[in-house]
Amino acid sequence: MTDQTTNASTTGATTATTTATATGDTAASTSASESPVQTNRPLGVAVIGYSFMGRAHSNAWRNVSAFYPDVPAARMTTLVGRDGSRVQQAADELGWEGTATDWRDVLERDDIDIVDVCTPGHLHAEVTLAALRAGKHVLVEKPLANSVAECEALVAAAADSPGTAMLGFNYRRVPALALARELVQEGRIGRIQQVRLSYLQDWLSDPQAPMTWRLRKESAGSGVLGDLGSHAVDQLHYLLGEHVTEVSGSLRTFVSERPGPNGTEAVTVDDAAWATLHTASGVVASLEVSRVATGRKNAMVIELYGTTGSLRFDLERLNELILTQTPGADARTAGAATILVTEPEHPYVDAWWPAGHVLGWDHTFTSQAADFLRAIATGDPVQASFEDGLAVQRVLAAIETSDGRGGARTETGN
Ligand SMILES: NC(=O)c1ccc[n+]([C@@H]2O[C@H](COP(=O)([O-])OP(=O)(O)OC[C@H]3O[C@@H](n4cnc5c(N)ncnc54)[C@H](O)[C@@H]3O)[C@@H](O)[C@H]2O)c1
Repeated sequence: MTDQTTNASTTGATTATTTATATGDTAASTSASESPVQTNRPLGVAVIGYSFMGRAHSNAWRNVSAFYPDVPAARMTTLVGRDGSRVQQAADELGWEGTATDWRDVLERDDIDIVDVCTPGHLHAEVTLAALRAGKHVLVEKPLANSVAECEALVAAAADSPGTAMLGFNYRRVPALALARELVQEGRIGRIQQVRLSYLQDWLSDPQAPMTWRLRKESAGSGVLGDLGSHAVDQLHYLLGEHVTEVSGSLRTFVSERPGPNGTEAVTVDDAAWATLHTASGVVASLEVSRVATGRKNAMVIELYGTTGSLRFDLERLNELILTQTPGADARTAGAATILVTEPEHPYVDAWWPAGHVLGWDHTFTSQAADFLRAIATGDPVQASFEDGLAVQRVLAAIETSDGRGGARTETGN
């Protein structure tokens, strides 16, 4: 923590805003119009949940000041989990100062400025709403929440809060995808007509793979659609700069029962989903997501086809972006070029290593934490916003509705 504390006095943390002091019931009713207090100290962080994303985010909070010294310093104040001894063990491993076993407790503390929600989806809305009402800055893992109604409530709460609210679509910080967005905006592949999106994993291929919260509708909202489909749809919105307005979709649950802690349990969400997505400008995208795609581990593949070129990306080769542009004078040398996205001119790369020293999946979370801290300090718009999360949820909900109508074309409301 020494480095981070030092950073606070040297890196412009003076511009950072923190929460109004909040105690007890007052926390939940802190006036949204109350101005956040200015502070020179590092911003205290509480992460809720200490498993997969809790660990990934802890890693980010631990090294963000070292690689992004321009942003306000963060202090790893409290890790929250329900089981006291397990959360303590995780806190010791991950470098947290303290622990709590009830997320409500951290909302009452004035040394916690940032609440980082890394819980299953059914808790996102409840925890985030309470944290925003307590005047905290909030970072929420994707998807924003489990339903459109919950997302709408969160958008309204964020607009009414003095805190900064950001949604953690970490793939916006993959340098190759951020570069793809730049190239699209520059018109380098012309007018985009057609997109292919797929996100395939295989950890549920085995019919004996056990139940988890991800396979219960009441905790996950949906299956692979919300889990991986949310990433893919957000990327489509991010890369195109416009939203999906109509869909036709189809869902499938291949394994309807799995071994649970108390015997066989029904799976109540989808294993795989397919959809055709339409935007207002006329772009058509195919979407295919699965957690039973045997042999595929974390394969988010995005292909954008424009009138003068195309872009291709595969998350399992995340340092590369393949660009094809229509041939110029010499057709002999035309063809796909693989760009190694590790130059300092590429998005996010200058925070890390010299050219060619490739980055990984975990770097996206550190860059995400840096962007969040910078937005807290500057008040600049966040990537992704809660509105972005609502737009994604509308698409996912429309795909479910379409599936219920035999694949009929359905408006998203975006
Ligand atoms: N961005 C990504 O690439 C990515 C990857 C995986 C998961 N996620 C998202 O992150 C979120 C968490 O997923 P995960 O994979 O970390 O799940 P996980 O099951 O590994 O961890 C969930 C954590 O939440 C904790 N938790 C549950 N109920 C709680 C409560 N009432 N109070 C405090 N803690 C509680 C659990 O103890 C556990 O530590 C989900 O929204 C998921 O969609 C994002």
